[in-house]
Amino acid sequence: MNNELRQSSARAHANIALIKYWGKRNGPLNLPAVGSISITLAELYTETQFSWTVSETDTAILNDEPDETGRISRFVDLIRRRADIDYSAAISSVNNFPTGAGLASSASGFAALTVAGCDAANLNLSARELSILARQGSGSAARSIDGGFVEMFRGVRADGEDAFATPLADADDWPLEVVVAITTRARKAIDSTTGMTDTATRSDFFEAWVANADGDLDAAREAIAACDFDALGALAERSCLKMHGLMLSTGNGLIYWSPATVATIHEIRKLRADGMPVYFTIDAGPQVKAICAPGYGEAVAEKLKTVPGVEAIQRTGLGPAARVIE
Ligand code: DP6
Repeated sequence: MNNELRQSSARAHANIALIKYWGKRNGPLNLPAVGSISITLAELYTETQFSWTVSETDTAILNDEPDETGRISRFVDLIRRRADIDYSAAISSVNNFPTGAGLASSASGFAALTVAGCDAANLNLSARELSILARQGSGSAARSIDGGFVEMFRGVRADGEDAFATPLADADDWPLEVVVAITTRARKAIDSTTGMTDTATRSDFFEAWVANADGDLDAAREAIAACDFDALGALAERSCLKMHGLMLSTGNGLIYWSPATVATIHEIRKLRADGMPVYFTIDAGPQVKAICAPGYGEAVAEKLKTVPGVEAIQRTGLGPAARVIE
């Protein structure tokens, strides 16, 4: 590396999967058992500052709290190895939304860390290479490297070089709106990584989940190309419910929903029965994300605000790719 201690900052947006990733085919390289399709969100993002330092150890402050898991430092090792750097890193990262409660903070967090860290290391990687690296921090982070509609490939190779994300359509091509109904700001009890390991080893339904994934991905790709809202919304709801069915079927019976989650699901289905173009999706947490056809976000937000147990509402459109910022 050159002698100067470079620093860089990056912003990466959260994403939510319409066709879900749940389960891994290999641990250390974090290879997904299924492909996934997501949308990147404009208003939910992480900003990360990354500096190389001559300190003895790495420091990572995430939303004012030090990372005590070692996960960030292990990820920085990948950048150090690739760039042949032996400096420590000082990292500070801030989310503009609740952390660890099923709002994809690991996705935007590791994507921002990847972009800032690679820039600080003077590594000039393609979006594909960045997504392969981000995946090793968190599977869903690979998708936050790109903007708009994004597909993550499962891949078949043991080295993970074909398990990367790629854009399917730009945010402007089909400006869907998303209303996030926040039902609790507490951290989730079981993180996705632990939940996925439990599912793969203990659910009788896991093989069926994996076997059916490609059909859902093909259908969602077609619905996006045709801007067919009902087709995509129905696929997204079904993929979400299949994933939560899988979670329920593990030995530990993972239940990420709260009563307000269920109330919001019913409200969204009622709105749709009354003619509103809206479908739901839910990740490994209690928040509900309402996917709305362009122009319907405000009306859906007004309705979801009134659901008992919904603490806050956040509206967003589709957002851009991760990038270096000043
Ligand atoms: C339910 O990407 O957080 O949000 O790869 O273990 O870090 P790791 O898991 P993570 O899992 C996301 C799971 C999900 C569905 C999805 O985003 O596709």
